[in-house]
Amino acid sequence: MLSVAAALRARISTRAFLPKALSQETLAEILDAARWAPSGGNIQPWRLIAVAGEARDAVCALASQTLQANPGQNEEGDRPIYPENLWEPHRARRYAVGEAMYEKLGIAREDKFTRLAWLARNYAFFGAPAAVFAIIDRRMGHGQWAHLGMFLQSIVLAAEELSVASCMQESWARLRGTLAGHFALGESEMIYCAIALGYADPSAPVNALRSARASLEEIVAFRGFPSKS
Ligand SMILES: Cc1cc2nc3c(=O)[nH]c(=O)nc-3n(C[C@H](O)[C@H](O)[C@H](O)COP(=O)(O)O)c2cc1C
Repeated sequence: MLSVAAALRARISTRAFLPKALSQETLAEILDAARWAPSGGNIQPWRLIAVAGEARDAVCALASQTLQANPGQNEEGDRPIYPENLWEPHRARRYAVGEAMYEKLGIAREDKFTRLAWLARNYAFFGAPAAVFAIIDRRMGHGQWAHLGMFLQSIVLAAEELSVASCMQESWARLRGTLAGHFALGESEMIYCAIALGYADPSAPVNALRSARASLEEIVAFRGFPSKS
């Protein structure tokens, strides 16, 4: 069985999937483990809608129609994907992973058309046969958003253990209003993001991308610890 540390290192954002179905039983096993994620006050501020088959295809078709009618459609609202004018060192990290991905795909920087076409693959879940949409109530505060993140990471790690690949996708935030109507969400509910789920295509160059991380020195201040004796 995969250790937690091994699962943390093995999980990547998979952006090409095999046309192999994900069964409801397998997804339920993943979610049944992930629902033990902690949350402040144990309020579990989340709800999921899982789609496969026709339900998956319907949401992809809706996204494609909506974005074809208006390529600039943006329904992020008051919870934007990134803060405005992202600052360093975060800005450089975002740029670096984007460029590394396009390098794997062999898409040049000036080839805006192909880059946009690639980004549109988000709305086909990169070919994944299934996805879950994560829903949070707008009345929840920043604390609960952090808790939702723990739930999402728990889902992808539990998936990893079962060799189910994943890609979290906040790109679906661009269609928050459209999706709220499609899924008949409650008045104060909103989609945070989706997670594409399925089986990785090992031959796809994009799946060879391994994103970097800041070192411990950059992100941790250890204070007062004894050395290991
Ligand atoms: C909440 C969340 C939303 C994300 N949204 C997208 C997305 O819409 N499209 C995409 O291709 N990657 C998306 N990613 C993947 C990140 O780009 C990726 O996690 C990061 O570059 C680190 O790479 P890794 O996941 O392979 O370790 C998202 C990740 C998270 C955690």
